[in-house]
Amino acid sequence: MTDTKADTPATGTGLVPVLSATHVTKQFKVAGGHITAVDDVSVDFHAGKVLAVVGESGSGKSTLARMLLRLMPVTSGTISYMGKDVTNIKGGELRSYWRDVQAVFQDPFSSFNQFFTVGATLKRRMAAKQGDETLDELIERCLSYVGLKPGDAISKYPHQLSGGQRQRVMIARALMMNPKVLLADEATSMLDASLRVSALNVLQDLRSRLGLTVLFITHDIGQACYLADEVVVMENGLVVERGTTDAVIFDPQNAYTKRLLADVPDLKGSLKKRP
Ligand SMILES: Nc1ncnc2c1ncn2[C@@H]1O[C@H](COP(=O)(O)OP(=O)(O)OP(=O)(O)O)[C@@H](O)[C@H]1O
Ligand SMILES: [Mg+2]
Repeated sequence: MTDTKADTPATGTGLVPVLSATHVTKQFKVAGGHITAVDDVSVDFHAGKVLAVVGESGSGKSTLARMLLRLMPVTSGTISYMGKDVTNIKGGELRSYWRDVQAVFQDPFSSFNQFFTVGATLKRRMAAKQGDETLDELIERCLSYVGLKPGDAISKYPHQLSGGQRQRVMIARALMMNPKVLLADEATSMLDASLRVSALNVLQDLRSRLGLTVLFITHDIGQACYLADEVVVMENGLVVERGTTDAVIFDPQNAYTKRLLADVPDLKGSLKKRP
């Protein structure tokens, strides 16, 4: 993530970012005026990295995510994908964008049809099959990626799975599209601590094995720092800090970041356990 206003990307790669928001603002009409949920935000997301957007509830993370996903129009600014302006694309172009940029949200239970098994749910997914691979083989491959045994998982109904397993099925479902970017918005927030770590490890593993770019959105700076290479901190719709995870943890510049970090006193120790 770099400030697109800067001449040289801070990552030093100089490559075109996979996904960018440039001067993106979102205002919502409310009684008596409007609120600015995202305020002139410019961030770049570079390929093959895990990038976290962190901030307290209401800081504008999901609004930014929805605009990046092209699920909500921007009030002003530009969304770019692979260097191309996608802010206003429509029809087939937008559908193709939605295949490349997949999302996983907080509550996977609401995304399931409770009367369908995992196998049936995944079979209904229009898939990006490769080569001679059959749909069954693709489903097995994607379930394996997220650490589920296909033989066990395929015949299960949603209520027969744990929250963590349901979240993994949703990630597998996203992977069936062979995406370039996986955006996870509070995807691990409902999991208990040990399941959360294993879900974070799944995301980390997907980055290493598939070269996926992962956008990880969370209110929990501990999870952000555990998983991400780079962190953007949002407060009241503004980006108040950005940098490599180590820089943000060990040399935070912003008072709000320092306050978020103070809430996780064991963070520096836990980083040693990072995969
Ligand atoms: N459709 C909407 N209409 C009006 N206001 C909205 C709408 N969506 C979001 N907001 C407001 O925009 C601000 C940012 O909300 P957003 O959901 O982006 O925050 P968030 O950082 O994702 O919070 P959380 O951690 O609770 O998910 C909040 O003040 C919220 O009330
Ligand atoms: Mg949110």
